[in-house]
Amino acid sequence: MTVTPRATSRHYLMCEPTHYTVSYEINPWMDSTRYTDASLAVQQWRTLRETFESLGHVVETIDPIPGLPDMVYAANGATVVDGLVYSARFRYPERQPEGPAYEKWFADHGYVTHTAEQVNEGEGDILSVGDVLLAGTGFRTDRAAHDEIARVTGREVVSLELVDPHYYHLDTALAVLGSEPGAEQVAYYPPAFSDASRAELERRFPDAVVASERDAACLGLNAVSDGLNVVVAPGAVDLAAQLTERGYRPHPVDTSELLKGGGGAKCCTLEIRAAR
Ligand code: ARG
Repeated sequence: MTVTPRATSRHYLMCEPTHYTVSYEINPWMDSTRYTDASLAVQQWRTLRETFESLGHVVETIDPIPGLPDMVYAANGATVVDGLVYSARFRYPERQPEGPAYEKWFADHGYVTHTAEQVNEGEGDILSVGDVLLAGTGFRTDRAAHDEIARVTGREVVSLELVDPHYYHLDTALAVLGSEPGAEQVAYYPPAFSDASRAELERRFPDAVVASERDAACLGLNAVSDGLNVVVAPGAVDLAAQLTERGYRPHPVDTSELLKGGGGAKCCTLEIRAAR
């Protein structure tokens, strides 16, 4: 099925990297001996935010908490589908306080929240495409969380197994280009998945964009799409060319400072999906 790219306006939650640093290592991108520049991180983050706003999207922010440097990766803070918030429950102690912090933001803003019992890292591993949720496992999110979110949301959940530690969250290996029902499309990096999960992706998305090693290595798959405009790392040149060929509009935004923590544009962006 060929999908004609079409934009729909989105609602995002982001967290300014005021306290950005790499002080612990929980993924292979992080090196705590390397210099990090919080003011450069803030500058890049503001450009990302302004890019979303210039595309007509609504951006809300949560206050950063000192001592939680990874809070900038808002995508991990929760999963919001049909206006319902499924909280994050982080694998590593360093990030565990982020779950309640994000859940409190949603509760304070009038959302119905469901406190997760199972370990899951929000939209880092749970991506909404059409009527299904694609859910990663292998490094961070437990498979039991896939069952839990299926129960909570009533959605079909497709479990995908990640096998390369560099692509430890689903959103580092797979980008949702079209999420509206009838216009589902994804881009992904096949070597990040187990054989069975690759086969599942091929079956569900026979026409998917297949990313190159070069795209994946700059976390180019950690992209944010509104159905037409795709905010993507500038280094993902093969991906950008393929997107253009299919009628998408790539918007390169440099998030290189945030890559030192193992994240890109999508990691910084939690989508708030209203009930439909
Ligand atoms: N340092 C963070 C971690 O390892 C990076 C999270 C990136 N977020 C994402 N959605 N992939 O947990």
